[in-house]
Amino acid sequence: MSVRELILEPKLPPEEIKRLEVSQPWISSNGDPERYMLISDCWELPGMFIDETCSARDKVTGGMIFHLLRGVLQPREYKLPWDYLRSGGTPVSGSSRGRTVGQGDPEHQDQDATERVIGFMNRQGGRFQYARRTGWTQDYEKEYRAVQPFIQHLDQLARLFAPGEWAEQWAAAQQRPEYVMVGTAFSTGTVNLGIRCRPHRDKGNLCLSAMTVTDLSPAPVQGGELLLPEYLCSISIRNEDVLIFDGRALHATAQFFTTSSPSLVHGVQRLSCIFYYRAGLAKCLPPDEELRRAQQRMAANW
Ligand SMILES: [Fe+2]
Repeated sequence: MSVRELILEPKLPPEEIKRLEVSQPWISSNGDPERYMLISDCWELPGMFIDETCSARDKVTGGMIFHLLRGVLQPREYKLPWDYLRSGGTPVSGSSRGRTVGQGDPEHQDQDATERVIGFMNRQGGRFQYARRTGWTQDYEKEYRAVQPFIQHLDQLARLFAPGEWAEQWAAAQQRPEYVMVGTAFSTGTVNLGIRCRPHRDKGNLCLSAMTVTDLSPAPVQGGELLLPEYLCSISIRNEDVLIFDGRALHATAQFFTTSSPSLVHGVQRLSCIFYYRAGLAKCLPPDEELRRAQQRMAANW
């Protein structure tokens, strides 16, 4: 596969990046690949629309931004998340990601769209002060098992196209292999059904994420490009594509639309899966010790 290499530099001043990160305005696009524009609350600027296989690095840091791999998934592979990862889930109204996913903003986000987190999660505040398998993974064990070949294939692609970043992440993950998804360099996956995001960075993850977008419904929704506002570029990801990217870069999702509905679409069946490694897991204890720690803490609170 010949890969076009892009060297990208920030196109927005640091103050504007900071503002986008803090105030999180919705960012949209005009959807026209020929005259592509990114649109925020304060500006409308020409952007680069990416829909062919290519790699991008940051001009200043030299770090990986993304690798878009077109046509690397077979139908039998992208049918796995479609068949198994739309089960269950938490609606936007109950999401812990709040503003990032448009909670309480029915004008821009279908509040009934759902998310699920699969695999493992590190200690967090509140009642989750221990590493664990996520609730979805416990409730949907059969479905979780069924998609494992898909996750393993994404991991192989990441290893092939981003070998340095993959090796680093895999080595970190090996510190606590109990919290790794089936021998990959990923611990966790976020699976969104019809969810669009405001600009944000994926905090607490190592650098290598793998993303797919699947919409096998009779009338697939349009739009929903992954926007990288800092570089004024956007990436179109189709059923058979994989995006390897650094989720720590500021990113957002363009609006969804259909030819008959240019405004908010309800019941969107666009499934996006993002697999990554939670850095905190490498520092956690083995599962039985995490459980004991959690029980001791709970006992102390009684
Ligand atoms: Fe994200």
